[in-house]
Amino acid sequence: MEKRHILVTSALPNANGAIHLGHLLEHIQTDIWVRFQRMRGHLCTYVCADDTHGTATMLKAEEAGIPAETLIEQIRSQHMQDFSDFHISHDNYYSTHSPENEALSGMIYQRLQEAGQIVKRSVNQLYDPEQELFLADRFIVGGCPNCKTDGQYGDNCEACGATYDATDLINPRSTISGATPVLKESTHLFFALSNFTDFLKQWTRSGTLHEQVANKLAEWLDAGLQDWDISRDAPYFGFEIPGEPGKYFYVWLDAPIGYMASFKNYCDRVGNTIDIKYDDYWKPDSDFEVHHFIGKDIINFHALFWPAMLEVAKLRKPTRIHVHGFATVKDQKMSKSRGLFINARQYLDHLDPEYMRYYLATKLTGTIDDMEINLDDFVQRVNSDLVGKLVNIASRCAGFINSKFDGCLSAAPSTDLVKDAAAASETIAELYEADEFGKAIREIMAIADRTNEYIDANKPWVLAKEAGKEAEVQNVCSDGINLFRILVAYLKPILPKLAENAEAFLNVEPLTWNSIGDVLTDHKINKFKPLLTRIDSDRVEQMIAAGDQAEKPPVDEAEGADPGLAHIDFDDFAKVDLRIVRIDAASHVEGADKLLQLTLDLGDEKRNVFAGIKAAYDPADLVGKLTVMVANLAPRKMKFGVSEGMVLAAGPGGKEIFLLSPDNGAAPGMKVS
Ligand code: 2FM
Ligand code: ZN
Repeated sequence: MEKRHILVTSALPNANGAIHLGHLLEHIQTDIWVRFQRMRGHLCTYVCADDTHGTATMLKAEEAGIPAETLIEQIRSQHMQDFSDFHISHDNYYSTHSPENEALSGMIYQRLQEAGQIVKRSVNQLYDPEQELFLADRFIVGGCPNCKTDGQYGDNCEACGATYDATDLINPRSTISGATPVLKESTHLFFALSNFTDFLKQWTRSGTLHEQVANKLAEWLDAGLQDWDISRDAPYFGFEIPGEPGKYFYVWLDAPIGYMASFKNYCDRVGNTIDIKYDDYWKPDSDFEVHHFIGKDIINFHALFWPAMLEVAKLRKPTRIHVHGFATVKDQKMSKSRGLFINARQYLDHLDPEYMRYYLATKLTGTIDDMEINLDDFVQRVNSDLVGKLVNIASRCAGFINSKFDGCLSAAPSTDLVKDAAAASETIAELYEADEFGKAIREIMAIADRTNEYIDANKPWVLAKEAGKEAEVQNVCSDGINLFRILVAYLKPILPKLAENAEAFLNVEPLTWNSIGDVLTDHKINKFKPLLTRIDSDRVEQMIAAGDQAEKPPVDEAEGADPGLAHIDFDDFAKVDLRIVRIDAASHVEGADKLLQLTLDLGDEKRNVFAGIKAAYDPADLVGKLTVMVANLAPRKMKFGVSEGMVLAAGPGGKEIFLLSPDNGAAPGMKVS
């Protein structure tokens, strides 16, 4: 197989919010594909960056009282840590606010201009007279002109789905100052995208996109494309347009160029050591590949504006754009929307990243269909597949090999299963190549099932007690270990850490795709240590509970405060209704490792509350005691029932959680102030 040179990107996360499951889905998808290509022996380079420019960054920095440059560096280091803890193997994680990006954006703009594809037009836009700022649609709210629902953004209505111009909103307000916006005229620069409809009709059907995506784009292309406004007026955090003082590149102009800039920065840093040359990848007739992984909400930027710009600028266009759907929780989009989402850090504080890598991989297809995330299903799938099937094979076989045969595997396989499992490698490779990770996993798990059936049928634990059956025990267990090795190789793009630990246990060099067919014979393995433990569903409950506090507003709104600290102002604090309550009843919850179920008496009503204090208190000691609860917390459905509030406690955790007060005359229901 010829060695391919592949450059891969994931969409650049915005530098104004935390990494959440929506980002992780995409970066995990990309990382699996990248690791697979590297295992195949290709030179696959994976770059990304934070997308830093725009009004939202500027406002957030202003509110935090720090320069935008400081804010974006703080956020970038948090993003890098989150991705690295999820084993995302970026070769470079850069920033769009970089000298390379400024130079490349300027160069591409100049080429567009020289080609006569930049036009100036006068635009009437809503303006915040208090902030002295033109308002993007996301910074204007008002009543929907169609269904009249108030509080809708300037571009479309979340209640009825209507799209409109911000100037059509009823009673529009600036979300920044609350002022009524006024119309103001300004000259903007446009990229003449309308000249590229025919070029794009052809390009979108040239094998670079999944048919489903090309069909979606055809709807826009058939309607004819509009020119694209690429400038924004000061004040704006971004790159000033050469020759146009007070005008800045719109964030979406320099964001995709940020892919090139990150790669340029990487090549300049390491080019001499690994012989990777930026120009080889970006010349118009390059044989090298460029792959973008994105969500379906940003197809137009990547598959219309971007290739048209590259065409004019005489640069190569993407080889393939891999587009995924959204992760949804009961039909709610889990990306930038309101509603439940799980932050990367919140997850990492409670659970192993490989559980999530595996679960998301089972959901991934090459299509733009949405993927429903269900945390019960998550626990069940990981425990059953990875612990119950995969790791179980090694743990069943390794003990006998270590204790009875000094760790040594037998001289030859005694079943065709080993050869058959290796023979699946091209089918599985095709599925990885096509982003069909869910299907690849089904193939792999079918091999794990056959392996477990083989071990069950041959029962080494029975043979081990019979005289003269030593060779059979060694053969069956060696077969099991060899099959385990193949399974680990197949799963290595998804579970890199588990694979690394398994390689140490198997005492082998890092597994590659080419070495899958090798068989370990007369080979000494190391002592087996558990490679993965079952997910404890209490940990999932705790992770969700932590999310209730960690939830963030949508990223495009001005958020305020230091990105690392969730400050609340006094008004928010005053909304918390703290009450003294008497614990009427307390009991263990069947199946929960950490929770107690409490019945709390507020004087005029009783509440059912689940509290994670089992390690600290015996239920019998709690009954009759007073404590403090948050009485106006929205009820939350938990696995074991609905929790109608929260008790307050302090302490480092475990056995040291303190929530009781002696009965000193305080009465249930009394407000705490
Ligand atoms: O949608 C987003 O979150 C953008 N920050 C993605 C940018 S991708 C690329 F074009 F830079
Ligand atoms: Zn509406």
